Amino acid sequence: MDSFSFLILFFIISTLLAFASGSRDLAGDVLRLPSFEASKFLHDDNIQGTRWAILFAGSNGYWNYRHQADVCHAYQILRKGGLKEENIVVFMFDDIAFNEENPRPGVIINKPDGDDVYAGVPKDYTGSDVTAHNFYAALLGNKSALTGGSGKVVNSGPNDHIFIYYTDHGGPGILGTPVGPYIYADELNEVLKKKHASGTYESLVFYLEACESGSIFEGILPEGLNIYATTASNAEESSWGTYCPGEYPSPPPEYSTCLGDLYSIAWMEDSDIHNLRMETLHQQYKSVKERTISGNAYYGSHVMQYGDVQLSKDFLYLYLGTNPANDNLTYVDENCVRPPSKVVNQRDADLIHFWEKFRRAPEGSPRKIAAQKQILEAMSHRTNVDNAVKLIGKLLFGIEKGEEVLNNVRPAGQPLVDDWICLKTMVRTYETHCGPLSQYGMKHMRSFANICNLGIQNEKMALASSQACISIPGSPSWSSLHKGFSA
Ligand SMILES: *[C@@H]1O[C@H](CO)[C@@H](O)[C@H](O)[C@H]1NC(C)=O
Ligand SMILES: *[C@@H]1O[C@H](CO)[C@@H](O)[C@H](O)[C@H]1NC(C)=O
Repeated sequence: MDSFSFLILFFIISTLLAFASGSRDLAGDVLRLPSFEASKFLHDDNIQGTRWAILFAGSNGYWNYRHQADVCHAYQILRKGGLKEENIVVFMFDDIAFNEENPRPGVIINKPDGDDVYAGVPKDYTGSDVTAHNFYAALLGNKSALTGGSGKVVNSGPNDHIFIYYTDHGGPGILGTPVGPYIYADELNEVLKKKHASGTYESLVFYLEACESGSIFEGILPEGLNIYATTASNAEESSWGTYCPGEYPSPPPEYSTCLGDLYSIAWMEDSDIHNLRMETLHQQYKSVKERTISGNAYYGSHVMQYGDVQLSKDFLYLYLGTNPANDNLTYVDENCVRPPSKVVNQRDADLIHFWEKFRRAPEGSPRKIAAQKQILEAMSHRTNVDNAVKLIGKLLFGIEKGEEVLNNVRPAGQPLVDDWICLKTMVRTYETHCGPLSQYGMKHMRSFANICNLGIQNEKMALASSQACISIPGSPSWSSLHKGFSA
């Protein structure tokens, strides 16, 4: 059979099968059916253009082990898939592998029985070079805008494919970075538009894990940029850490921290075991969504997709390459990975670590006292931030209505806020009077957005903040001055 008639036959068969199964699913199901040989024939290795990737872990600290573990794991997937080191730009603080708390020095794992994922990961942007500013410069391929780091950027051309993966804490409209200011949704989307305008990619896929990560794209990322994004959660819910102490499956006993994040390990463990020439982005979206919702009312989040959804008919191979060892492992539902039985809200994962540290330390030891202090400080920081924001709401909108106004969620499809400059101003005003929001305080970003959406002037906000926070609460370890303002 010549190649043309083979193609025709393939399409007839797949159309018939799709029809028989009643599927109207444009992007995915049709493509699950061909045999390995047919698929190999149709999707040979001569893809046009180069594959590029940016991997970004936004946190630091041993209690955030899992984000850097996720990024290291992603790096290994891409390398096994055939991407070159020079085409993968890695942002990670790099304080985990040789952290004094790490029971296996020099090693990072991303699942309980997992192998080391740290070996070979390049140190492109580490420590205080892990910034929003360098992220934007690296994506835009603008070397002269970089401050610090290896100088590696996405120097892509018009036929290239770009994969971006970010994992960390976030909040409505923002993504965390170890050094402020944070990544704001408006700036990130402007950078994506600029990258598109420069004509330096054919298509771009963005996988994003953070709390309220849907708010980064919802009502903001336009169609037509050839960008397909999926997020760990919708615009108004937490995302989840997993492989945490005390859960099943739990990390090896010597670990007092979570090893991964639910959405992240879902896409990565799926990519680990499949021939990615045969699995589409849409198929992965569906299995990741199923694993991340977790079938549970208490935890789990809604994986969302944004931008040019029709791109999800692309094979993962176009972005991630594929590991030759998986050539015979086709995509079938039965070899999808099973969800772990329990997970931890992103925002509580630090408390789990402090608690485990406390629990394990010998009675009366300095380590126990230090761990106790960490728990108390983290708890009192949380209470201070929650109370300060609540009180500001009451001062601005009245005792009765304050809380309701702050927590108001706009209808789906609308951006968090119309005036992003106002949002950043409100954050700065708050932090000036009340101290740092920090990782936990990111959850209140919607309150600041609502203050802007209701047209409150900054002077009024400053007055309310100064009344609510007569002295800056919290201890020096949570200080803004330490990490810079969040906006
Ligand atoms: C690169 O960054 C520099 C410094 O921020 C800026 O002046 C320049 O316009 C940028 N170049 C491009 C092509 O965006
Ligand atoms: C896949 O199957 C083919 C045919 O059976 C075999 O020759 C090849 O070695 C297998 N590849 C891998 C990576 O197992």
